[in-house]
Amino acid sequence: MTRRAAVLAGLGGWIPPMRVTNEDLAAQLDTTDEWITSRTGIRQRFVVGPGVSTSDIAVEAGRRALDSAGVSAVGLVVLATSTPDHPCPATAPEVASRLGLGEVPAFDVAAVCTGFVYALATAAGMVDTGIATSALVIGADTFSTILDPRDRTTRAIFGDGAGAVVLRAGERGERGALLGFDLGSDGTLADLITMPAGGSEQRSSELAADESDFYLSMRGRPVFRHAVTRMSETSLRLADRIGWPAPEIDRLVAHQANIRILTAVGGELGLPADRIVANLDRVGNTVAASIPLALVDAVGSGELTAGHRVLLCGFGGGLTWGAVGLEFPELPVQPLPGLATRVLSTRTK
Ligand code: UT7
Repeated sequence: MTRRAAVLAGLGGWIPPMRVTNEDLAAQLDTTDEWITSRTGIRQRFVVGPGVSTSDIAVEAGRRALDSAGVSAVGLVVLATSTPDHPCPATAPEVASRLGLGEVPAFDVAAVCTGFVYALATAAGMVDTGIATSALVIGADTFSTILDPRDRTTRAIFGDGAGAVVLRAGERGERGALLGFDLGSDGTLADLITMPAGGSEQRSSELAADESDFYLSMRGRPVFRHAVTRMSETSLRLADRIGWPAPEIDRLVAHQANIRILTAVGGELGLPADRIVANLDRVGNTVAASIPLALVDAVGSGELTAGHRVLLCGFGGGLTWGAVGLEFPELPVQPLPGLATRVLSTRTK
């Protein structure tokens, strides 16, 4: 008997319309286009405006994934986000309602930039075991809402966005079946990427000693080192588990944080540059959305096609990391909107 598996059946993404270029940042902060481009590979990012929240962009991405799958109902919604609309309740139930999905189970998963891989594993497990027959898995974050406007490092990297996939119940031998996962975490390094205040430890009802505690703080250099090591290790473990020799991976779709990280991980796996998907130059680091947004872009450009052996790999705050492999299916995908839309005028005098 063929083993039951969750199968990728739809894919969609959304980025908000307000574009912030490196030049925009250089006009406000002590930075340059040259520094940002050469140190990160990022040229622009998109941010939500006032009044637009994570649920808004999650709904847009979710709708496109449902369209791609050709379905109007699913049995489960899992939203990966670390910037929910509110600390309580979760954002997924509202997203499910706004998508007209009825009273389906819906909850958030918080694993920062690994959130999408964790959410995918959670939903796939529920589909594999028959708890749900299908699922909408969304990765959506609006990190622009938690960045210190004076922090040139985080503002250079992070952008907002949402990406989503539909999973259906199928068989392991089918194209699109999720073939296995590798997941991990190391909480001893929690302080490398953190927003210290606003939770139960340092409450938002109390005045923080330092207002910067309400902003994201990231220690870039150690995070970079761990990103390369952990993404390489989890990818190699996963490839081994599902029986793929690493050099036979056709496309590595890894978390889009820094082009130098992607190149280093590709090198560890023995992959040439043309097998490493990168769209961070155009959208920045979109946290939980980064992997599905890279998939949308790669399918749209023809860089990723049906039959490719694809390894998805995430790394982020927690620390957390994870990987999943699949043979990519044929999917209709709408291109990301607005990659050439209006520029947000954020210049200060
Ligand atoms: O998504 C979750 C995981 N996040 C990541 O994977 C991010 C990983 N880290 C990185 O991508 C890189 O560490 C960064 C891009 C964040 C920083 O690049 P770096 O080459 O590691 O720079 P650094 O932090 O070692 O800083 C080198 C210098 C410093 O100046 P001094 O102390 O040498 O005078 C920084 O203050 O670069 C300075 N710097 C900048 N200069 C101009 C940091 N950010 C900027 C900036 N513009 N935007």
